[in-house]
Order: sequence, then C-alpha cells, then structure tokens
Amino acid sequence: MLTPTVTLTGRPVFFPLKPQLSPPAPLPTRTNSKSYSSSMESAGADSDGREFKNPGEMWREHTGDSSLKTQWYHDGVAYWEGVEATVDGVLGGYGLVNDADVKGSESFLQTLFSDIFLDGGIGRHIVALDCGSGIGRVTKNLLIRYFNEVDLLEPVSHFLDAARESLVHENHMASETHKATNFFCIPLQEFTPNPGRYDVIWVQWCIGHLTDDDFVSFFKRAKIGLKPGGFFIVKENIAKSGFVLDKEDRSVTRSDAYFKELFTQCGLHLYKTKDQRGFPKDLFAVKMYALTTDIPKRTGKTRSKVQANRPAIIK
Ligand SMILES: C[S@@+](CC[C@H](N)C(=O)[O-])C[C@H]1O[C@@H](n2cnc3c(N)ncnc32)[C@H](O)[C@@H]1O
Repeated sequence: MLTPTVTLTGRPVFFPLKPQLSPPAPLPTRTNSKSYSSSMESAGADSDGREFKNPGEMWREHTGDSSLKTQWYHDGVAYWEGVEATVDGVLGGYGLVNDADVKGSESFLQTLFSDIFLDGGIGRHIVALDCGSGIGRVTKNLLIRYFNEVDLLEPVSHFLDAARESLVHENHMASETHKATNFFCIPLQEFTPNPGRYDVIWVQWCIGHLTDDDFVSFFKRAKIGLKPGGFFIVKENIAKSGFVLDKEDRSVTRSDAYFKELFTQCGLHLYKTKDQRGFPKDLFAVKMYALTTDIPKRTGKTRSKVQANRPAIIK
C-alpha cells in the first residue's frame, strides 16, 4: 500500500503535484505484439498500489466501455468541482510552486520565440489557447503578457468564472492589445478549435485526464487550430517509468517514453524539451515539450544565440 504524502497544510497531495510513487517491478516486454512499442508495454500502478502489466490493461479496466468512459470523465470533472478556485486549489495545495513554475515556463517560451519567430514576433498579432486553464493562472501570470489574445478552455465552470473575473473584470493590465478573449467551458476531448487561430496551444497539468485515444484525437483535431509555424507546449508531471493512475481525480501520470510514443501517434514532432527546476523533491518531475506539426527547421546554434539577445517578445 502506498502512503500518501501530505502537503504543508496537512492535506493529502493531489494532482498535479503528487509525489513520485515507487515504480512497479518491470515486467518482461512482450515480443509478439506489433501494435505497441515498448513504452506502451511498460507496467504501471494506481494510487492504491494495484499494479497493471501495461496501459492497455488499465484503460480497459477503467474506460473499457462507453459507460465506464463516461464515468471516468464525469468523476474527473466532479473532483475539480469540489476544489476551491484559488492558486492553491488548482495546484493541489502547492501554491508555493507557482513562481518557479511561471519562471520555468517563461524561460522556455522565450527560447522558442527567439528560435521560431525569427523576427522576434514583432508586429504580429499572436494568439494562444490555454487548455485546462483552471482559474487562468498560466494566462494571468504568463500568456497574457506575451500574446495579444488568449482563449481559455476549462470544463469546470466555477474555475472559468474565476478566470473571467480576474482576467476581464479585475485585470487592470488588460488592454485592447493584450486580452483574454474567449472562455470555452468544455473538456478537451470534446473541443475542436477554429482553423488557424493559434500561434501556441498551451496544455499544462490537464492532459492526464484524457485517455490515450482521446489524447491522440485531441491533438490531431487541435492541429488545425494552429497557424503555420505554430506549436503546442505540453507541461506535465512525469512518472519515472510506465504510468501512475490517480483513482481520486481520474488522471494518469505518464512517463517521458509514454508521452513521446503518444506524440508520435499524434503526428507531432518534438522541437525542444526542458525539465522544470526548483520544485520540492517529493513531487513528480515536470517536463516541458514544444511540439510542431511539421518537421522542425533547425536554426543554427550561433544564430539562435544572437536571436536570444534581441527583444523577442511583445510585453
Ligand atoms: C491541476 S489543474 C491545472 C490548471 C491549470 N492548467 C494550471 O496549471 O493552473 C487541472 C485542470 O484540468 C482541468 N480538467 C479536468 N478534466 C479535464 C478535461 N477532460 N479537459 C480539460 N481540462 C480538464 C481541471 O478542471 C483543472 O482545471
């Protein structure tokens, strides 16, 4: 039985900042299966310590027919409906990591801007989508400073109401050139963006709620929402190996290899990845992935360094 770690306030640690659970003992890889790569054959466990020999076994048990799948998504949203609309609430009691998180994301975003927008993005009207936005923490602390418009997508209405309140009504920084525009109250598995609207689709601490099939079909649909040269940023907890299912909030923490296998199935290319630093040691590792729909054209190292010294963002 796995012992839950407690937060600073004495409450159990929730998604997304759960401690790393002991990885289950590795099982022999099947050699006769052609449909899965080895990362999709890795063993995993749930939050009660129950082991699964591979993700397929876990997904069949929890979402194997349409009523189980409906229940899975219902329970995931119901969990968040019971959480207070605060930074501490959406960070599972770990509001203290907000600053390090924003700093890590900002530095990753800046690198991408200097690589991808060779003109530094100057003079462009750039738009982002904040997926599973919660109360708009990422938009408010980061995206709205860099993008002219940000849309938010969030299935829990009291989170989205709080986001709208702080970004539209209370945000004195908001202007006609930097604003939150659309607030979509819908889960990712049901969302299709308008074609060509976004420069960046930001997915942080929410994709674990989606089954593998819905993960892949979401990204395939969402690609049409990107402008040419646009990219996805995925920032998520990473399991040491295989996967860890949280039965309470109905989310799955995947390993780096598992993510990469799913990105390949989505037809996405990994442009850059970076580890988040500065979080407490008892939490899951966190990685940022920048993903493109076309094979990325690499800018030369020298050029990239030069670009990094130029103003590259709209502030
Ligand atoms: C840990 S919070 C993270 C919120 C925000 N991304 C942040 O970093 O502050 C997880 C969020 O995922 C949302 N969520 C749960 N199920 C979802 C789904 N199926 N599609 C999109 N978002 C979902 C929750 O309502 C919650 O707002």
